[in-house]
Amino acid sequence: MRNLYYESTIYRQIKEKRSNRKARIASDIELYGGDILASEEIKEAYDQTHHLWSTVGEHTLRVTATSVMICYALKKLNIKVNIPVVVVGALCHDLGILGRDSKFESNKECSHEHPKESVKVAKELVPDLSDKSVDIIERHMWPAGGSQAPNSLEGMIVSSADKYSAVKDLVKGSDINNTGVKNYAHEKADNVKEKVNDRVNQIRDRRNERQLERKK
Ligand SMILES: [Fe+2]
Ligand SMILES: [Fe+2]
Repeated sequence: MRNLYYESTIYRQIKEKRSNRKARIASDIELYGGDILASEEIKEAYDQTHHLWSTVGEHTLRVTATSVMICYALKKLNIKVNIPVVVVGALCHDLGILGRDSKFESNKECSHEHPKESVKVAKELVPDLSDKSVDIIERHMWPAGGSQAPNSLEGMIVSSADKYSAVKDLVKGSDINNTGVKNYAHEKADNVKEKVNDRVNQIRDRRNERQLERKK
């Protein structure tokens, strides 16, 4: 049941701030990564499954939005952070994984090599790609994939957001394909309910039949 907190002014203010923040994140991503967002690679990314139940496209946007949110939090603590570099790095970090089945022979090869492939794609999409963005993309897999540790604050932000978003991909899945742990669990629960209902109906029918026979 909803308590008084949800009716309070402070709750309304927090809710408003949250929706403002979402709009700010979206406009920052559009401002610094508009060209990448409009690319064919991003379109293709929405067709490739990633982290079991999500897509590369949705994962990419989750990583980017989370990274930008971390940037805002650090700025509040008076820590300087380069948001444009973070947006470009986050949007491109996994684009080299597209076509993974034909590009890589094993999952291990994929996890080691896709950051280098992503750098190649990023260089095509962003002609004046900064060295910092290259480092962010190249080292995002750390501590997995035999990767070196990020060498900048921005690199650490994207690498952390990548891990957080990977978990979110597994739990929340894809909005497009309507997958994820939640939906999977619901589906399972529905199956169980259906089986139980069938069994209950069978027992009820048999009992009715027996009662009818006794009456005869
Ligand atoms: Fe990756
Ligand atoms: Fe990733």
